[in-house]
Amino acid sequence: MGELKTVRIPDIGDFSDVPVIEVFVQNGNQINAEDSLIALESDKATIDIPAPFTGMIREIKVKPGDKVSEGSPIAVIEIADTGGNADAESVSRKPDSEADSTEQNKRIKETASGNAPRVISHTAQNESDKGAIETEEKLIYPVSPPISPVVVDASIKAHAGPSVRRFARELGVNLDLITGSGPKHRVLKEDVQAFVKAGFSRMRTNGKNASVDMGLDLLPWPRVDFARYGPLEIKSLSRIKQIAGANLHRNWVMIPHVTQFDEADITDLEALRKESNAAEKQAAVKLTLLSFLMKALIASLKKFPEFNASLDKNANGETNLIIKRYYHIGFAVDTINGLVVPVIRDVDQKGVVAIARELSELSVLAREGKLKPEQMQGAGFTISSLGGIGGTAFTPIINAPEVAILGVSKADYKPVYRDGQFVPRLILPLSLSYDHRVIDGAAAARFTSHLAEVLTDMRLALL
Ligand code: COA
Repeated sequence: MGELKTVRIPDIGDFSDVPVIEVFVQNGNQINAEDSLIALESDKATIDIPAPFTGMIREIKVKPGDKVSEGSPIAVIEIADTGGNADAESVSRKPDSEADSTEQNKRIKETASGNAPRVISHTAQNESDKGAIETEEKLIYPVSPPISPVVVDASIKAHAGPSVRRFARELGVNLDLITGSGPKHRVLKEDVQAFVKAGFSRMRTNGKNASVDMGLDLLPWPRVDFARYGPLEIKSLSRIKQIAGANLHRNWVMIPHVTQFDEADITDLEALRKESNAAEKQAAVKLTLLSFLMKALIASLKKFPEFNASLDKNANGETNLIIKRYYHIGFAVDTINGLVVPVIRDVDQKGVVAIARELSELSVLAREGKLKPEQMQGAGFTISSLGGIGGTAFTPIINAPEVAILGVSKADYKPVYRDGQFVPRLILPLSLSYDHRVIDGAAAARFTSHLAEVLTDMRLALL
């Protein structure tokens, strides 16, 4: 058995009680000098602590979440008998069987291959912090910077632990092509697996003779150390944003979207809404434009059923269009934590007052974060209204597995040429995004024209 050495946290500058965010090695792992052992994350930098020598991990002394400072033990390594390895030799000749931090610091000064911490990224909060970072770098390399640069520019190198690198090497995967899902974009084993899986499924989809060129073949995501350019503030994304973001991304990439723009003259509808609101005062339900819009939408969905539909693959892999004979409508609600989409069921069976009441109740629940999962499921079509905020048009992203979404912008008075003169009319902008695999451009134009007609004359909704 080779000599056992305890590896300790070397000089990491002013940092103390720094949390361990990742442990890259396990008992029994064979490691080379310079392989990362653990990663630490201070509020300003992610620091990789590499192994000072080649050998086998005999004991791990830390776990993620532990706090460490200079001198804290990390692991016990059984030093490999490499014969010519001057580093390992010089350490093993030492009477004290521990490679203490003083010695490690000495080695940092003497050689580039010591376990000098590798600063992966900085996250300066303000100008004064920028000064602190410069100081940190000086402290980390107390004499002069090591011969090989150890400040890793994240824009050129994937951030991954040794076991993940080994795993990727075994599979022939270029880590730089993978966007890591770990902290600071660290590439995890699961990311490598997902990358390989996606490659296989692409080949299956494209047939036996599929060429790799048929994939998206995109450039890797740019990795930039933003702190090099100025002060930063780092905010984590809310859970809602993370979930919604993943859904939006998938929908945007997988659905061939086209957006049809149109306008509806809602002058009479607005007059009706105002009158109805005055009459409904006692009922304490405000009739919003959205509640009338939902009612009008049902008339258009009934006339054009493929807009209330979903694509679905059967057991034989054939694609079918599922046309829904129910009319559950989702509506996007803007909350401080992000976008949520509650669903009103059986809108076709409800009057405008009932719809308005439900819209208001579900919006309150959405903003309080109290929606139940079943209150956000089952929609056949979604409306996203930015009308209360502003804008003239936008391109909403379809909420899969639906095939269309209606965006509504702010209505405004516009001059409309009628009977030889311009008259002011309240015009509502409509933006209908649709899945071009299911809906043709002509159908989309017919759909928005019909919806505009119904909104102009709500009596058509009764037919
Ligand atoms: N044009 C002009 N004014 C409009 C309008 C429109 N299209 N839609 C609403 N308004 C007016 C309303 O009449 C109301 O004015 P009033 O108080 O004088 O009657 C005001 O804007 C506020 O309306 P609001 O209370 O927001 O009701 P709403 O029914 O329009 O909207 C929600 C309800 C839940 C849709 C809305 O609050 C919301 O969250 N919208 C954002 C959705 C979103 O983020 N979508 C983006 C997805 S990509």
